[in-house]
Amino acid sequence: MAMSTTSPNSLVLKNPNRILTKTQINSFPINAQINSFPINHSLGPKKSISITCSASAQVQDRAAAPTAVDGGQDRVFNFAAGPAILPENVLLKAQSELYNWRGTGMSVMEMSHRGKDFLSIIQKAESDLRALLNIPSDYDVLFLQGGATTQFAAIPLNLCTPNDAVDFVVTGSWGDKAFKESVKYCKPNVIWSGKPEKYTKIPSFDDLEQNPDAKYLHICANETIHGVEFKDYPIPRNRAGLLVADMSSNFCSKPVDVSKFGLIYAGAQKNVGPSGVTIVIVRKDLIGNAQEITPVMLDYKIHADNNSLYNTPPCFGIYMCGLVFEDLLAQGGLVEVEKKNSKKGKMLYDAIDESKGFYRCPVEKSVRSLMNVPFTLEKSELEGEFIKEAAKEKMLQLKGHRSVGGVRASIYNAMPLAGVEKLVAFMKDFQARHG
Ligand SMILES: Cc1ncc(COP(=O)(O)O)c(C=O)c1O
Repeated sequence: MAMSTTSPNSLVLKNPNRILTKTQINSFPINAQINSFPINHSLGPKKSISITCSASAQVQDRAAAPTAVDGGQDRVFNFAAGPAILPENVLLKAQSELYNWRGTGMSVMEMSHRGKDFLSIIQKAESDLRALLNIPSDYDVLFLQGGATTQFAAIPLNLCTPNDAVDFVVTGSWGDKAFKESVKYCKPNVIWSGKPEKYTKIPSFDDLEQNPDAKYLHICANETIHGVEFKDYPIPRNRAGLLVADMSSNFCSKPVDVSKFGLIYAGAQKNVGPSGVTIVIVRKDLIGNAQEITPVMLDYKIHADNNSLYNTPPCFGIYMCGLVFEDLLAQGGLVEVEKKNSKKGKMLYDAIDESKGFYRCPVEKSVRSLMNVPFTLEKSELEGEFIKEAAKEKMLQLKGHRSVGGVRASIYNAMPLAGVEKLVAFMKDFQARHG
């Protein structure tokens, strides 16, 4: 049974060493004022600290399915580009399992990564991801660390010799960063760049002059800063037929034919979990030829041979990703998820396009991202006010990336339709007052 924590009877902890009963734990109000919480500081005398935790949520009985709390009271609509909004039911499920994971008497954070409990968590995360993306069996799924940025180096180190050519189509800042990092480990070449047009386009694939000798063709499937998204993918014309994609910001937002790619990589912190986990999906035959200088932590063979458990992995992050995968499957999989994302995207882009120029999205319509929606105000001096007023209405993190300015609304999988509806209503109201 879910227990409301809005009772005025806030629990004041006087003695942290006291063991709470299950009932007490379940009735522990998250918004309790924890006053005079004495801690035994190893370096000095007993000190008193005062902690005020303003977050409020329902604490769940472990046996009950978590139910979403009303976002209106305490949760905001978080439009951040990443780390980003996570599904409420996933957060609540994690909350209900945080203290004692499924009767093990410990949190996932405390478990041995080699124990059977964590093994069941990582194996289920992998199999659910395989089900979601229909990942063929000749691909490995790796749960790594270091962010997508580390993959900018790891990919050429694993797939190339220092003299191998690589083709890059650069449609935004992240593709550019991937290119620049790879210069250290191979001989990359930018065969198309959207920079002259401020990264608002994707090239026509027929016009790309691909190098048949290139080891692979690299794209960034969704440029988080500029809001440019590939809706289809170029056919790699290199001899090995290899396409590599950074899918950090649209991973699991729609179905993808994994077999078209040699390698897909994504930082988790936009669509599928907290920061600290990077997912690499790589065709097995591409593994095992890393350059000699490759650090052990960047060698795919090491991680593949050890099922992502060569060293201590980001256990809690992997657990959270697993909860998100479970949730996406429960929603009906990525076909259903894409429908929801299309509806949200259309609603927001329509509001921009129908504003008679008050709001403007610079990105070419056919390649507008369903995940990151950048826009400017005709009266640019109002952008600060727009962001400030939106924040007062509990719509946060709408500021565009510092390199481009303007406004950016990231509407990942976990952003509910209600969040986009609220933003659109606010935009209309703002325009009515300032237009
Ligand atoms: C598309 C894309 N690629 C790469 C990165 C870098 O990711 P990380 O910070 O996890 O290294 C980001 C981060 O925002 C991104 O959006």
